[in-house]
Amino acid sequence: MKKFNEVAINKMETLIKELVEAYGPSGEEAAVRELIEEKIKDSVDRTFTDNLGNLFAIREGAAPLLMFSAHMDEIGVIVTHIDDNGFLRIAPIGGVAPHLLVGQRLSFKNGVTGTVYHEKIKALKELDWPKLYLDIGAAGAAAAREHIRIGDMACLHQPFVNLGGRYMAKAMDDRIGCAVLVEAARRLPGSLPQGVCFVFSVQEEVGLRGATTAAYRLEPDYGFAVDVTLVGDTPEAPLMAVSLGQGPAIKVKDRSVLCHPRVRELMIETAEKHKIPYQLEVLERGGTDAGAIHLSREGVPSGAISIPCRYVHSPSEMVDAGDVAHAVELIEKIIMVSWPLPDSGSGA
Ligand code: CO
Ligand code: ZN
Repeated sequence: MKKFNEVAINKMETLIKELVEAYGPSGEEAAVRELIEEKIKDSVDRTFTDNLGNLFAIREGAAPLLMFSAHMDEIGVIVTHIDDNGFLRIAPIGGVAPHLLVGQRLSFKNGVTGTVYHEKIKALKELDWPKLYLDIGAAGAAAAREHIRIGDMACLHQPFVNLGGRYMAKAMDDRIGCAVLVEAARRLPGSLPQGVCFVFSVQEEVGLRGATTAAYRLEPDYGFAVDVTLVGDTPEAPLMAVSLGQGPAIKVKDRSVLCHPRVRELMIETAEKHKIPYQLEVLERGGTDAGAIHLSREGVPSGAISIPCRYVHSPSEMVDAGDVAHAVELIEKIIMVSWPLPDSGSGA
């Protein structure tokens, strides 16, 4: 297993653990935001939060302005109904597969925890949301209503585990991106060739909503999403040329964006110059904040750095420590490149 920088990774592990274990389904990112603000504030000139809850952490500098965005929210469920026996009915927040929830524990913001189970089914394919319920151990409807209201959200309840060079947790998507940005901010030198804003966005899992208003407000010259991507290296996985442990992925496209060729090429050149391993990513489903950023105002040349991740949107998302360390290093070097001001119509 490639160990890029053991000291930095060990220090970063605590940060990753705190971030992935925090509660933060889409629209309920406050706890994650407070944690990140605390961790990043000494590495930047100023921080602020916008109306939707996006956190901005700015290193002032000359033009151009680079925007790096990682989303704080995670997938979860929302309570739609409480029955007479105190069982909760739930609906998904973001892309949640019902079969991955059966037997899992879910926790609410107030700490109430329960387990998901299902009504009688004849075949696994009948397992859909109406068949699922969440049991919080309430003795009846009144007991359940004492703690839970319709519209309350819960997220997966899973500890962070270091598997020895690989990390497993819920919400790696995209707290690992948040951790990478916090660590990159920490490592930047006192003087930068241009301004940088780290954005920790809200509501990505329900449609890139936070990044939309964040990019509008910031008016960046270049945009970069930092998020997880799928891999093709597990048994009978759909064909995909990204594997765990082969380096961060430089995105070519996903369903939300065709990455700007100049941004993509400059990232590739930077990786090669500094001998940082990287992979090229074509993701056939899913999107990232870059999808929203590049369509902001008159258009923002954008790209994305992805951390390869197994079992995305499951209770046990897995990333490689070397990929994480190399993603930090790549972002650090990208920020130290003197980016030209984008000229309109530069295109492909
Ligand atoms: Co996701
Ligand atoms: Zn994500």
